[in-house]
Amino acid sequence: MGLEITVKPISVDEIGSILILDRLCFGGLWSIDSYRRELTNDNSHFLGILGDKTLEPELDGLIGFGCFWAILDEAHITLLGIHPRYQRQGLGKLLLGSLLDKARTIEMARATLEVRASNQGAIDLYEKYGFQTVGRRKKYYQDNDEDGVIMWRGGLQHPANAIDRAARWHG
Ligand SMILES: CC(C)(COP(=O)(O)OP(=O)(O)OC[C@H]1O[C@@H](n2cnc3c(N)ncnc32)[C@H](O)[C@@H]1OP(=O)(O)O)[C@@H](O)C(=O)NCCC(=O)NCCS
Repeated sequence: MGLEITVKPISVDEIGSILILDRLCFGGLWSIDSYRRELTNDNSHFLGILGDKTLEPELDGLIGFGCFWAILDEAHITLLGIHPRYQRQGLGKLLLGSLLDKARTIEMARATLEVRASNQGAIDLYEKYGFQTVGRRKKYYQDNDEDGVIMWRGGLQHPANAIDRAARWHG
């Protein structure tokens, strides 16, 4: 039987699961204080994917999360992560589409993000959603002097773009 998947806003009450998923997806990207700030900031929009409760019990079903900041009419995507066990099954598409849907409903016109130059899988995913590379920050990532690739996508309010979540997950 397929897994029941829900995409929903995440609250600060779920910070324990978020920290565990952060370690699994990113090896510890943000601190608990950074997450607390994100989860309580009115300009920050945090979504989670809930599904498999049989993984680490502390995750309480959380298998993906993503976030963007609403700055004027721009959605700055700051986070996108899927549990390693569930990668390459379409959940990244579902999550990115859901973030863009949310951005659209709060009148954002454009979306932007930054990604490590070596993260070709993520770059491919963003390109599938209409993001284009517009620049590069040389040696932006201090841990390995890696460049950051800056990507943008416009036209969020165009009616033809109101179908991002059509990429449903068929697990
Ligand atoms: C990047 C990430 C969010 C993608 O999530 P996902 O659920 O694996 O992605 P999907 O299954 O929806 O893949 C969608 C498309 O993205 C591309 N893609 C995703 N992962 C890829 C990989 N490892 N290698 C090559 N292409 C990849 C493919 O084009 C894929 O389409 P396809 O499966 O039809 O070929 C996930 O791999 C992840 O959490 N990685 C660790 C954290 C991270 O790097 N986040 C992004 C930081 S900016």
